[in-house]
Order: sequence, then structure tokens, then C-alpha cells
Amino acid sequence: MCGIVGIVGQEPVAGRLVDALRRLEYRGYDSAGVATIHDGRLDRRRAGGKLFNLEKKLDEEPLPGIIGIAHTRWATHGVPNVTNAHPHFVDGVAVVHNGIIENFSELKDELVSDGAVFESQTDTEVVAHLLAKYRREGMSQRQAMLAMLNRVSGAYALVVIFQDDPNTIMAARFGPPLAIGHGRGEMFLGSDAIALAPFTTEITYLVDGDCAIMTRNGVEIIDYDGKPLVRKSQISQAAAFMVDKGNHRHFMEKEIYEQPEIISHALGHYIDFASHTVKPNQSDIDFGAVSGLAISACGTAYLSGLVGKYWFERYARLPVEIDVASEFRYRELPLSPSQAALFISQSGETADTLASLRYCKEQGLKIGAVVNVKESTIARESDAIFPILAGPEIGVASTKAFTCQLAVLAALAIGAGRARGTVTAADEKAMVKHLAEMPRIMSRVLNEIQPQIEALSRELSRFKDVLYLGRGTSYPLALEGALKLKEISYIHAEGYAAGELKHGPIALIDEYMPVIVIAPHDRFFEKTISNMQEVAARGGKIIFITDEAGAAASKLPTMATITLPNVDEIISPMIYSLPIQLLAYHTAVFMGTDVDQPRNLAKSVTVE
Ligand code: G6P
Repeated sequence: MCGIVGIVGQEPVAGRLVDALRRLEYRGYDSAGVATIHDGRLDRRRAGGKLFNLEKKLDEEPLPGIIGIAHTRWATHGVPNVTNAHPHFVDGVAVVHNGIIENFSELKDELVSDGAVFESQTDTEVVAHLLAKYRREGMSQRQAMLAMLNRVSGAYALVVIFQDDPNTIMAARFGPPLAIGHGRGEMFLGSDAIALAPFTTEITYLVDGDCAIMTRNGVEIIDYDGKPLVRKSQISQAAAFMVDKGNHRHFMEKEIYEQPEIISHALGHYIDFASHTVKPNQSDIDFGAVSGLAISACGTAYLSGLVGKYWFERYARLPVEIDVASEFRYRELPLSPSQAALFISQSGETADTLASLRYCKEQGLKIGAVVNVKESTIARESDAIFPILAGPEIGVASTKAFTCQLAVLAALAIGAGRARGTVTAADEKAMVKHLAEMPRIMSRVLNEIQPQIEALSRELSRFKDVLYLGRGTSYPLALEGALKLKEISYIHAEGYAAGELKHGPIALIDEYMPVIVIAPHDRFFEKTISNMQEVAARGGKIIFITDEAGAAASKLPTMATITLPNVDEIISPMIYSLPIQLLAYHTAVFMGTDVDQPRNLAKSVTVE
């Protein structure tokens, strides 16, 4: 989704604004722009495509000025081209925006009938026109800002500068996040603290309905009626994380390989490595007392929730209602305050997940957030935060956040089982021991399978369609494998529950359709082997991801067999995530795609 930055500084800002935009690149974008005020005049540079196009323009035509705003745009209304790129200018007003102005067409009709001429196809331009109109009518900059905020509806982070006030940046938030950075004689703002990390660590997060008036001396936060609000600043940890690729080709590769270390750190928060027990749950959610769980999330986070469903039902005997958040929020699902709800989100800002959370809150449920960003909106609106501690995930395709979400959900499910008396102390000890051993096994697997997967990926990159099959917790992994492959290699891929093969996808099986079967030698193995048999009988090419016991038990011919160590069921989803991540990664590398920023995708989806 769009990235926003702004600086009211003491020295030229254009270069620093572009550097800050670079730290927001991971969010996904298709054009970019920057605007400054210099010598009483607003000016801007905008470019389609990647940031180097904007930098080239700035090299050719530098943009002086010590106050400025900048934006990377992920197109919603209007194609990604220079005219639709932000900042939008109208009569000395410059605006950048993340989100959607839902009443833009009604406002546009009104403004056009007043004589306004629109340049772009964006919803954002109505904001600039409204502000310019209010200024023409004699309002001050502040009055115009508040009047505009009282007219627009939808989801937005909006940042505005006025040509006739080169000392102030105004901003407002309703939905997508905005962070204010406090400097010495300079102030900053950005879509997240990572963007501002080189400038400052002191951050104030705006909440929905806040309007910020920022000068070099500080920030004043008011509501849309102009009444003052108090928001505390905090020291952000964002700067503590190295946001670079190290010696890896892509962030995705780095994030895949850091999983053993990171997951060990995350597990340390939830389990006691010495006693092999789950640490007591200090949160406001009493898993021992709740009557059921509602889980909602989007994308990869939804798929970790789907694995969590199997665990909570099996180990804690807790019924779980789960759905993708974009459906959950509108289903009018009957819920009871005796249930608890869990929302899983790497960013903690996904609009649909947040809306589902608010729905459950209205129904009186206790809310738990399984999030990576502890300062995020979803975390802030929850009764209990279960951090996944994965560190910043930059690759758009989620990898380490997925396995950390799984590790946290596994610990929570075991803990819930203990609280409910459905997991014995001995079972807890055994399962936690497996979790504790997992990082070591992950390291071993990553090292051992890499050459085979790389070679196999070259072959896979020649196909147009791929099917993934799995049963039990391997079913969500089949969905995740297909999602990972399609989002970064653009090869069409579908994941199916192995038992559903006969109900449709079997019609597609031929020698041009590789079928990736995820089947550890578990309770479901024999059933899945029968499904593999059905594929083999129709000439399908099988890529078999199994363990030593599974490889020994199957006599079926395969295109490749990826053999992992025999592991306990509780850790197999995390271990089997590794080959599916590496397969997608290397296939995308062979295809030559933009692995870290795949086309059309955004890391943090702050609109519906
Ligand atoms: C986008 C990202 C996915 C992510 C999903 C949910 O689609 O590209 O990687 O799984 O959003 O994001 P969240 O931040 O809520 O986990």
C-alpha cells in the first residue's frame, strides 16, 4: 500500500524524503513523487515505476526546499501513471494520501459543478480541491484542514502542505497508520517508524480521528473540531533492526534463512526451555474458560490461523470459527461474549482484519492480537497482545512471520489445552520439547534441501500451472505453498485438500501439471498416498515432500522427492514451510521476477 513521508527541517529535504520512501518500498507501489516549498513556491517531481525513476528526475531537476512531503503510490483509483502519482497540487495546496476517500465521487460532482477542473483520476484530488476552495473562501490553513476532514469519509492517512505556510505540515489519520517523528529542530512523519528510523527513534502514533499540525518545534494534535488531544511519544525499536539484505540476494531469502534464529527468540517468549512447559498466560484471555474461538486474518496470516484451528480443536478441544477477514466482517456471524477472538496480522494494520476485530469487540468478545508490530492499530485495540517477534519483514511474500505465527499459535494451543485439562503435563512436556528442538531442525533442513530445491525450481519454472495437495495441517500448507508460488513467480498455482482431488481438480491432471504433495508420515499418510496414486495413474508429475519414513513407505514414481527428517506432528507445519518457501523463492529467481516486490502486491493492505 502507499507510503507517506514528510519532513519540516533545517536543511534540504528531497534526498532524505526519497531515502525514507526507500524504506517503505516493501509496502508495494507503482509510482512515486515528492513536493517541497522553496522561495514561497510549491514544486514537485513525480515518476511512474520504481524509485530510481524519481531519483533520475531529481538528478536532472533538483528540488530545493527544507519542507516537503513524498509518496509511493499503490494504485486504487486510476492507473499508475505520472498524472495520478502524488503529491496532488491545486492552487498552492499539496496533498499525499494513503487509503480510499469513499465519498469522492459525490464530492467531485459538487466540486466540478463549482467549476473545479480535475487533472487526475484519483480520489485524492478531491481533498486538494476541497482545501483550495476553503482557502479561497477565506478560511485559514487550519480551518480549511478541519473543514475538509469533516467532509471526507473512508480510510485515509492524509498529509498536506500549503504554499503560503512553509513552516507547517498538516496530517490526519482515519484508518491507515501515521507516525510522527520528533527530531531536534526538525519534525518528521511517515507511514511507519521504519521509514523514520535514521532520523529519530522518538515516535508519536496518531490514532483514528487525529489531526496533527507539525512545525519545526513540535507537533500539536487536535480532533476534527479543533480540540487539543494528548498523545504520548514512545521510543521505537525500529532502528534496532538492520533493514538490509546482508549477503543475501533478496530480503525474502534473508528472511527464510533467519527463521531458525528468530523462531527460537519468539518461542522463548512463550515456552520455558528448561522445564519444557508453556509459560503461564498472563493475558486477559482465559483460554480455560472460553466456550470457543473466532479467528480471522488475511492472506498468509489467515493460513497460519487455519493451522491454528486444527491445533486449538485437537489439543484444547476448543471449537474454532475461522474465515478470511474480508468475509468475516460482513457475515453477521452470531457470536457470544463467552468466546474469545484472535486476529492474526504481521503488520497489525490490515483494514479487513481490523474491521473484523471491531465487529467482535461490539459482540463483547475478548480480543487477542497475534501481531508482529506491537505498536500497530490491531495490537492497540486488543485486550491481549501475543507478539510473534519476527522483526521487520520486508519481502512482500510473508515467510518468517508465517512460521513465527505458527510457533506462537502452537504454544497458545498447548497452553489452552493445559488450562482446559485436555493436554496432560506429560503431553505438554513432550510437545514443548519438540518445539524447543525445532530451530535446530529448521537450520539443518534449510542447509540440506537448498541444492535439490534450486535444481527442482529450474524445472518447475517451465510449467504454467501447479497443484498443491495436503491433508490435516498440511492442507493449509498446500494453500500457502500455492499462494507463495503464484505471488512471486506468477505461475498459476492452486492448493487443495488432498481428499478434494476427486471432486474437481483431478480433471486437470496431465503431464503438464506438476502436483506437489505435502505428506509427512503422519495419521493421514496412507490416505494421501491413495490420492497420489490417483495422480500417478493419470500421468501426473508428482513432487513429493515427505519425511524419511514417508519416502521409504511410498513406492510411487515421482518427478522429485524432497525428504525431510522425521518430526513430531506439532512442529511439522513449521518444518514443511521451509521447502515450500524455498521452492517458490528459487522458481521466482529463475523466472527473473521482482521477488521482494512482486507486481500489484502490497505488504500492508490498509484498504478494503
Ligand atoms: C498482504 C501481504 C501478505 C499478508 C497479507 C495479510 O496480502 O502481501 O503477505 O499475508 O497482506 O497481512 P497482515 O499484515 O495482516 O499479516
